[in-house]
Amino acid sequence: MILVTGGCGFIGSAFVLRWLQDQDEPIVNLDLLTYAGHPGNLAPVAGDPRHVFVRGDIGDLPLVRELLARHRPRAILNFAAESHVDRSIAAPQAFIETNVVGTVKLLQAAHAFWQGLAGDEAQRFRFLHVSTDEVYGTLSADDPPFRETDAYEPNSPYSASKAASDHFVRAWHHTYGLPVVTTNCSNNYGPRQFPEKLIPLMIHNALKGLPLPVYGDGQQVRDWLHVDDHCAGLRAVLDRGRVGETYNIGGRSERTNMQVVHAICSALDELVPRSGGSQYADLITHVKDRPGHDRRYAIDDGKIAGELGWAPALAFEEGMRQTIRWYLDNQSWVESVTSGAYRHWVEQNYGGRARAA
Ligand code: NAD
Ligand code: TYD
Repeated sequence: MILVTGGCGFIGSAFVLRWLQDQDEPIVNLDLLTYAGHPGNLAPVAGDPRHVFVRGDIGDLPLVRELLARHRPRAILNFAAESHVDRSIAAPQAFIETNVVGTVKLLQAAHAFWQGLAGDEAQRFRFLHVSTDEVYGTLSADDPPFRETDAYEPNSPYSASKAASDHFVRAWHHTYGLPVVTTNCSNNYGPRQFPEKLIPLMIHNALKGLPLPVYGDGQQVRDWLHVDDHCAGLRAVLDRGRVGETYNIGGRSERTNMQVVHAICSALDELVPRSGGSQYADLITHVKDRPGHDRRYAIDDGKIAGELGWAPALAFEEGMRQTIRWYLDNQSWVESVTSGAYRHWVEQNYGGRARAA
């Protein structure tokens, strides 16, 4: 079996669902169920004996040790993290606790467990660390995309905490020999993404007739990848990635934020036209920019494509249409995750950005 952390979040739940669709190998899912983790994300496998859910913290060393001893996984995939840049600006401490200290504790437990393995079990064990392209910092319009050999230049508390975790993962390989592999992926989108991130937030606000808050001029560029394509990339790296290596994963879909928001508005105009002849784009509101806002991210995926034969399967426009349909069909999911804590965050984050750019 494998141990997944953060399997009730956006990407972790997509990975768990896909894994259990594809094979019978069981999964232990360790998730703290922060505001971003929802057991309902795994409703399709509720009651499935191949999925063992444990509520807990990756930084709880005795708990992780006990889980490893009991289940003896052949791999650990570390999805668990605080993942939202704006929250890291407002309150960085949790990012240090989970992304840095939590990852180090997980590495310590994994190392002790791996040392107790012998022969084939020790050979095939993997620690796969799921990270972000944001560790490389920001690009200008004509810079080449990020490569695995680029220097780390994180700019936000979120990216700094992920960069620190990547460094510790690397150190546990070089110093202690732990068989690790790290992935650095671009912005994901798809079903079950918490509506604090750009795409689900815009869909959510548009359907409620609320302003669509674009930070600054909206000309920042992200490289969008559908979450299922990310999960396929993780699978390729787990199965065939070289130990000690890092792999960039990207969507080959650079878009400005304004392009993304307009694409959402146009799709909604078709699917659920507003009354009175107005258009969703009328709701676009430029607000004060995010402090330290990275201008552009872009991925050179030549390494994973060349070595492991991975490429994104879903074109951005088609993936976006599917995603918008998912949010339209699952408004009860959105209602359930946008509870009191969500409203408090929206007030805290956007209350302070009400001033136009
Ligand atoms: P998410 O915020 O949707 O989910 C995070 C999950 O981790 C939640 O289920 C949460 O309950 C759990 N968690 C948080 N702290 C924990 C702790 N201390 N112990 C155990 N569980 C804990 O995040 P996501 O978007 O699914 O991202 C997953 C991973 O992928 C993260 O490591 C993130 O840095 C990375 N990543 C995300 C993106 C993206 O666009 N979302 C892109 C590249 C990389
Ligand atoms: P986000 O989804 O938070 O991902 P990240 O910051 O990790 O790239 O944001 C994507 C882009 O959208 C980023 O440039 C910030 C911008 N953005 C807005 O313009 N308005 C918003 O309300 C949000 C949440 C993000």
